Amino acid sequence: MSNPAIVGFSGNITRPSKTRAFVDLIVQDVANRHGLSSRTYDIDDVGPSLGAARWARDLDAPAQAILSHVIAADVLVVGSPTYKGSYTGLFKHFFDLIDPAALKGKPVLLTATGGGERHALIVEHQLRPLFGFFEAFALPTAVYATDKDFIEGVLSSEPILKRAAQAVDEAGILVSGRSGVRLAAE
Ligand SMILES: Cc1cc2nc3c(=O)[nH]c(=O)nc-3n(C[C@H](O)[C@H](O)[C@H](O)COP(=O)(O)O)c2cc1C
Repeated sequence: MSNPAIVGFSGNITRPSKTRAFVDLIVQDVANRHGLSSRTYDIDDVGPSLGAARWARDLDAPAQAILSHVIAADVLVVGSPTYKGSYTGLFKHFFDLIDPAALKGKPVLLTATGGGERHALIVEHQLRPLFGFFEAFALPTAVYATDKDFIEGVLSSEPILKRAAQAVDEAGILVSGRSGVRLAAE
């Protein structure tokens, strides 16, 4: 994958997935606006070696390639369905295999989906601290959507799409800033 690159990673463990569709919608939007290469992955893509892995080296080759793409991304979009008030266990386990310093300073756009409004703060109370641990650059606008915001698996709620566009604008500021830094250094 050529750089700069935007990579989506969704914690859904079943398909079809609203979360994956939501993450990919945002990935495509940022990629199209800024000419980035893009990929979106989910737990299904990582495959069965994830559950048994105690260390990144225990992952099979395709799973290690996905881990490497996530680490190498210029911008990350992460999302998870809410399971029992938090991200899915395998979403956390994937990030548990990443070196604590590997995501330092990386722009990360936070998203989540849930069955209802009750757990909307998963993005602030679960996802933001996780990426705070990594000292990643989590964007100020995090986006949560509920099942009723989707029609046939596609995000269709105007207020949520508007909030997602706000997060995409923030990602754009960082993408432009990063290429500006690169140009200045050349
Ligand atoms: C095991 C399980 C636990 C869930 N726990 C919650 C929950 O605590 N809060 C919530 O709002 N939705 C909960 N849900 C609903 C899902 O978060 C919701 O349907 C989500 O949008 C599914 O995303 P997906 O289509 O990407 O799988 C749960 C669903 C499952 C299967």
